[in-house]
Amino acid sequence: MNTWISRSLWSLGAVLSVAVALFSYRYVVFAGLLADNVMANLMARPWIAVHAGGASTALLVGAFQLLPAIRRRRAMHRWLGRLYAAGCVVGGVAALVLAPTTTAGPLASVGFALLGVIWLGTTVQAWRLARARRFDEHRRWMIRSFALTFAAVTLRLYLPIGPVLGMDFMQSYVLVSWLSWGPNLLAAELYLRRHRGIRPLLTNPVSSAG
Ligand code: HEM
Repeated sequence: MNTWISRSLWSLGAVLSVAVALFSYRYVVFAGLLADNVMANLMARPWIAVHAGGASTALLVGAFQLLPAIRRRRAMHRWLGRLYAAGCVVGGVAALVLAPTTTAGPLASVGFALLGVIWLGTTVQAWRLARARRFDEHRRWMIRSFALTFAAVTLRLYLPIGPVLGMDFMQSYVLVSWLSWGPNLLAAELYLRRHRGIRPLLTNPVSSAG
């Protein structure tokens, strides 16, 4: 992909990630604009706070780990990586507690739970590969993990589309419990397939570590 296009896409993704992450921290203190349907989840207190705290932290730092400038600073890349993985694990475990009791019903429960399981799986796998110093595979699994973390952004982008097309809010919510992450994972797979054997864009061209 053209470097200019990939940089622009990264910038847009990073701005959206940081905005959604910062705005979502309000759930950690249960203050500000809180969605009624989410607060009606039986497990909302305290699990939404745990989920939003962990997941927002992962979303806040995740995009920056793709930058060569951060990756060249090994210690920073490692510490941000630990913070990212810890955020995913805390956010993912809490998501699995919240998913069965979403007020959007069983189809949304399965959509969120499946996302949670795959999110945890890809992140743990990426972390294990980094520990084993298998950095190329580590990078590929982290791309999958972040594509799923980014579901928090795509969910909020897609959510208003349903009502515009005449669906009610809850129907739209059920749909995005799947659509927010399925296409992201597919896009990550297509990207990885296209770049099989070559160092992906926005990664450190000099070193293979990290
Ligand atoms: C990627 C895996 C994720 C899963 C499986 C997941 C799952 C869930 C579930 C089940 C709920 C409760 C929904 C309900 O009760 O109807 C929820 C709400 C929420 N999640 Fe996540 N989530 C994920 C990622 C994220 C990320 C990365 C963020 C970071 C911003 C985030 C922030 C929130 C917030 C703020 C809420 C409250 C509802 C809202 O305002 O939309 N989630 N999530």
